[in-house]
Amino acid sequence: MKKKSKSLSVKGKPSPARSAKQAARIAVAIMAAGKGTRLKSQLPKVLHEVGGRPLLEHVIRAAIQLVNPANVFAIIGHEAERVRSAVQHTGVQFVLQSEQRGTGHALMVARDALAGYDHVIVLSGDAPLITPTTIRHLKDFHLGECAGMTLLSAELENPSGYGRVLRKRKGSAEVQAIVEEKSASPAQKKVREINSGFYVFDVNELYAHIGDLSTENAHAEYYLTDMASVLRRARQRVVAWKTSTPNEVLGGNTRAELVDIDRKMRMIKCNQLMAEGVTVFYPETCVIDSDVEVAPDTVIEPSVQLLGNTRIGKNCRVRSYTIIRDSRIGDGVTIRPGCIMEDATVGEGAILGPYSHLRPGSEIGEGAHVGNFVETKKIKLGKGSKANHLTYLGDAEIGAGVNIGAGTITCNYDGVHKHKTVIEDDVFIGSDATLVAPVKVGRGSYVGAASCITEDVPQESLAIGRARQVVKEGWARKKRETKSQGKKL
Ligand code: UD1
Ligand code: CA
Repeated sequence: MKKKSKSLSVKGKPSPARSAKQAARIAVAIMAAGKGTRLKSQLPKVLHEVGGRPLLEHVIRAAIQLVNPANVFAIIGHEAERVRSAVQHTGVQFVLQSEQRGTGHALMVARDALAGYDHVIVLSGDAPLITPTTIRHLKDFHLGECAGMTLLSAELENPSGYGRVLRKRKGSAEVQAIVEEKSASPAQKKVREINSGFYVFDVNELYAHIGDLSTENAHAEYYLTDMASVLRRARQRVVAWKTSTPNEVLGGNTRAELVDIDRKMRMIKCNQLMAEGVTVFYPETCVIDSDVEVAPDTVIEPSVQLLGNTRIGKNCRVRSYTIIRDSRIGDGVTIRPGCIMEDATVGEGAILGPYSHLRPGSEIGEGAHVGNFVETKKIKLGKGSKANHLTYLGDAEIGAGVNIGAGTITCNYDGVHKHKTVIEDDVFIGSDATLVAPVKVGRGSYVGAASCITEDVPQESLAIGRARQVVKEGWARKKRETKSQGKKL
């Protein structure tokens, strides 16, 4: 028993005394120049999205929690400009690898950028589940071991496709070599300890020996993995630190792997929300982006998507088949099934749906109701106002306590320009009204059903804009009689 706990502490985090070299100048290099041939895509691999953002952005976000973005270098090459502009906002630096001749070559081209640093943490731009905690442990282990190269390894159920870690001896921290799947012997393929593609190098040692890499391998590329045996031959210490969270190292090389990573990321997010007091039913059917915030006691039903910068208050219920992007939802809001929202704001206690479509710029007031098949765009709907059925409200400012009858349409577009409809507090719009903008309906007024309103309506009035009803008594009877006699009416 005693023995066991001792070996555990050796395998775990390094002792504090050993991580004393914190003052070392540390850079992060993220390899992101590859094409991603296995994805069969026009889009460069590192821009494929999981958890609602590009693979590379996840890795960058983890890196910049450890070091300043000025010390993070993304090595880009394939579709470099596209990749650069997608992640530029993070503030990281870029190194161009115009020809992609392998992961070893990626580090060769970063030589000038990394001059002046003591150690470089190397991350793979296609492995987005990595956490700052794991990277920090790897770095501390490297510094504690005084190694020339430290690699992060993991034990996987299915190691196929990954490079295998060959230890110097069983149980030793030291590594003999990394062998790529394609060159591995049947016995080596049985090794389940894989190379994650995350490393820390002593910068001086890396560049003193990187010239010894060769392209004599299955892909005719410079493999960074070969630095393990190169540095060993140069009598450098090469060690591996095995993570206890192997999911973090998974790479997205194929569509199936991307989908698998996405699913894992979504589950992590759902579990986080649940730990914070949110109920997520059938979480495996929900798609919730990493930046989404949901307050406690809100219930999310199956098959809901919460995307982008969405924020949802407490005590809400989001029913099935609702998709919300970049929106703010207040406390106690009920969202019935099948609603679609983008860039919308919804006040406390409002009730939406089923099947409401809130397009950008929709501001729904406190306690307001937006119902079945109602589409809104760039509108303000005041406190307690209701638009419950089959309505289009666009470019409109609607006050409080307003009732919008079924089938009401704001005619906001004249074919060239958009115009505004203003409906003041406590107005009642009868069903099937068309409000031809620009137009204003004054406070407390009524608009008769089926009216076409083209002129402003003053306060406290009734506006009717429709043909007067004509009744022709006996007309139907006469029609039937003349028909039976074969005559025209
Ligand atoms: C690599 C490792 C393998 C490890 C696996 C973990 C090598 C030779 N093999 O294999 O041991 O198990 O990662 O995920 O390193 N890249 C460049 N420039 C290049 C080539 C690649 O920047 O010239 C980038 C890619 O965009 C990618 C990363 O490096 O983000 C890794 O390259 P990839 O081709 O995916 O390597 P793997 O075959 O996964
Ligand atoms: Ca990979």
